[in-house]
Amino acid sequence: MSFIRLLPELLINQIAAGEVIERPASALKELLENSLDAGASDITVQLEAGGIKLLRIRDNGRGIAADELEFALMRHATSKISTLDDLQSVASMGFRGEALASMAAVAQLTLTSRTADANHAHQITAIDGQLSDISPASHPVGTTVEIRELYFNTPARRKFLKSEATEYAYCEEAFKRIALSRPDVAFSLQHNGRTIWQLAAEQNGLTRVTTLLGAEFGNAAVAVSRHAAGLSMTGFAALPAYAKSTRDAQYFFVNGRFVRDKVASHALRQAYQDILHHQRHPAFVLFFTLPPAGVDVNVHPAKSEVRFRDSQGIHQFIFHTLQNALAIPAQSTAPVAEQSHYAPTQQGFSLAQNNASYQVWDMQTGAGKSGVMSGEWRSSAADTASGNYAPYSPLPTSQSPDEHPLGYALAQLLGIYILAQNSQGLIVVDMHAAHERIVYEKLKNALDEERIATQPLLIPVSFYADALDIASVEASQTELKKLGFDIALLSPTTLAVRAMPVMLKQSEAEIVARELIDELREFGASRVLTERRNELLSTLACHGAVRANRILSVTEMNALLREMELTERSGQCNHGRPTWFQLSLHDIDKMFMRGQ
Ligand SMILES: Nc1ncnc2c1ncn2[C@@H]1O[C@H](COP(=O)(O)OP(=O)(O)OP(=O)(O)O)[C@@H](O)[C@H]1O
Ligand SMILES: [Mg+2]
Repeated sequence: MSFIRLLPELLINQIAAGEVIERPASALKELLENSLDAGASDITVQLEAGGIKLLRIRDNGRGIAADELEFALMRHATSKISTLDDLQSVASMGFRGEALASMAAVAQLTLTSRTADANHAHQITAIDGQLSDISPASHPVGTTVEIRELYFNTPARRKFLKSEATEYAYCEEAFKRIALSRPDVAFSLQHNGRTIWQLAAEQNGLTRVTTLLGAEFGNAAVAVSRHAAGLSMTGFAALPAYAKSTRDAQYFFVNGRFVRDKVASHALRQAYQDILHHQRHPAFVLFFTLPPAGVDVNVHPAKSEVRFRDSQGIHQFIFHTLQNALAIPAQSTAPVAEQSHYAPTQQGFSLAQNNASYQVWDMQTGAGKSGVMSGEWRSSAADTASGNYAPYSPLPTSQSPDEHPLGYALAQLLGIYILAQNSQGLIVVDMHAAHERIVYEKLKNALDEERIATQPLLIPVSFYADALDIASVEASQTELKKLGFDIALLSPTTLAVRAMPVMLKQSEAEIVARELIDELREFGASRVLTERRNELLSTLACHGAVRANRILSVTEMNALLREMELTERSGQCNHGRPTWFQLSLHDIDKMFMRGQ
């Protein structure tokens, strides 16, 4: 008796489908790519229930002849390549002949098509992998593919699908990627009978980009265009004013295909490095092209990764092209979409902020003198720093009971440190780190007691959001409320912060909201409030804490010291670094060789 046997055809296709068709959005991507490969200039997409119930894609491409309909649904049947050489220079989106067969194995599929030389259209249906006979149908030249009830016959798989809203969001993202890649093709998208996008064909792609990514992106974008040595990169890259805290406004296409590639991402990030705050992500829509033989597209089941033959050369090319495009000084840069109200710093980030000079402030001696004094102190401290003073975590205990352990503020040093005096000597406090810890602990306690104090914003702060952002916010209203936020939907692409925790800075409403949404997207609402809770609160605390370079009055500094004394674990910031040092009189005497 033999134990090893061939799997039935349907099962083989169902297994393959698991790789190629992960969710409705992957089916949509495959179908859109087929329409583009067929030379369509007009493509309409209709979805029901996030694409789970129905995906219908109709195009005006060259169509499929009646006698080939059956082949189209068979595995390893393709019109696009026939030899290994073809594979190495493939210019079409498809090449494996797997997509339709995979869908036919896990959904009810109807394929209707007509070629230019046929009198009428023909139709074929597949249910559970069983193909129907071919029947006549009515359809103009082109093709319609209908996918109903995805994964209806593989319940284990179906369970992995998320809510309708989330699956829809993924579909919309897949649609956007393809629509961005081909501005010369008209697209429309309907969901549950409602038209969401209606995109006319156009030449240069700017309208397409600003329609899909928002005017905000268009206003902050510079055009990129370079052709050299068979390589080219064109498109739009946003100046730092726009940069988002999430990674999703990054569209990078290789020979028309949306991909995530390490070499390219690294080069792009590096080009932005000098001008972008490290926690923000650049935003761009860039089309990189190279001779097909220079890139292997057959490395990932969904074709979302590629491998470059000369990755170093390509890294250089991408890096230099983008760096040059971004190097135009901010003032003289006219964003591609001119708008007079554009304010380069409205996102809460500006170049000036990044390398601002430090304020020197001293209560007793005045700003000028303290600059000199602090310089001397710094150099002597550095000379003797080798292990002489360890950070003190427990608060000093040998004071008289009525004295404050962290003493009284004397001055602010270089906008970063608070200098205070207690009976033992000098206390140096890292102002931002200490305040961050205080805000963090307060947030933690308040959240535990479900009483984070909320502050309604006089003017709600609105910002661009994509479908996944919106789906995440809609699915997390309870959690957002617990965290003290009220974030509402203003339009299909805009969210607005209407209220936020009192402890956080209103001026950072948008940044904070984006970071929060980022977490919700990545981990889901329930995890954000459980295992991710402390990370999240720590991020929020960072936005509640005073920044370096803020001048504090002596009263404010003393208030901070008192709060530190009351706060648990205030000896370390949220990242585990010390928040303050004690430099005893003895230590200082030693530096000056006093009494030795
Ligand atoms: N919209 C369409 N218009 C015209 N022909 C189509 C269309 N969709 C599919 N076809 C034909 O059906 C064949 C099979 O499509 P399928 O997507 O399964 O494979 P493929 O595109 O060749 O490769 P891949 O699996 O990489 O997508 C295609 O090669 C093409 O000839
Ligand atoms: Mg295909």
